[in-house]
Amino acid sequence: MITADVARQIISGARKVSVDLGLTVSDVCVNGDTANLLGHTVSVKDLEEVAGRENAVFFPEGNSMYQVAVSSARFYKLVPTAGAPTLEIDGVRMHRTKEITPDEDAEEKLEILLLKKGRALDTCMGLGYTAIGALARGAEVVVSVERESPVIRVAEMNPWSRRLFGGEVSLLLGDSFQIVDALPLGFFDWVIHDPPRLNHAGNLYSEEFYTKLYRVMAEDGRLFHYTGEPRSKYRRVDLQRGVQRRLRAVGFRGTEYHPDIMGIICEK
Ligand SMILES: C[S@@+](CC[C@H](N)C(=O)[O-])C[C@H]1O[C@@H](n2cnc3c(N)ncnc32)[C@H](O)[C@@H]1O
Repeated sequence: MITADVARQIISGARKVSVDLGLTVSDVCVNGDTANLLGHTVSVKDLEEVAGRENAVFFPEGNSMYQVAVSSARFYKLVPTAGAPTLEIDGVRMHRTKEITPDEDAEEKLEILLLKKGRALDTCMGLGYTAIGALARGAEVVVSVERESPVIRVAEMNPWSRRLFGGEVSLLLGDSFQIVDALPLGFFDWVIHDPPRLNHAGNLYSEEFYTKLYRVMAEDGRLFHYTGEPRSKYRRVDLQRGVQRRLRAVGFRGTEYHPDIMGIICEK
């Protein structure tokens, strides 16, 4: 994986760089107009091109460089940050990246949930940072649902998502709104509900969906619901109040909005 920053480092003479988006450091060997990165030969001309492409991640294959992106009905791409990369879908970032990295974002969500051992449902997989974080915190069962197959393809290419595909997470491809109906009653101790914004996933903010989540949760199970930060101050208040009202209407207790994390915690 090569970013603009890594390409510039190689061009300016660095001989140790990270080719897995900051997880490890590897040797790079430059000979004339090519560079050798972990057995891949990359031309300096291609590196110069990548050096001018911020907000994108590339990988070498054969004699060419390709972007970690999938173009279908929508455009999905990996975007580097100071930590784990984020996923952009049609230009909308799927993690908080302002003064925080996506891996920190996931960790804060799990920390406020107090997630530890038990069974966790992750309704919106994305790059899987919340699912992987749940494993790291001791969850024995992690079920993660993703509606968009291009997201899974991007995650497969992302070094920070590797643990998703090691057999510890049960990955379900489909719409959480329907899939949750097929999950067992009272099974999950933890639910991480990290949906896209309301205008992109209205039904995941509905009373009907909260009823479905309530059904699959164990007594005293805890839910984290990311609500985000819609632009208008007044809309934000309305959104959070509306979500809390609907959560209470289906039976959740102790709903509390956490402005620093931009999400709601509650209990069954
Ligand atoms: C904000 S991201 C989740 C980020 C994730 N928690 C992580 O750690 O990377 C939301 C994800 O939910 C997916 N999604 C949207 N609607 C969905 C649905 N109805 N069911 C399941 N996944 C959905 C999107 O494709 C996107 O990948």
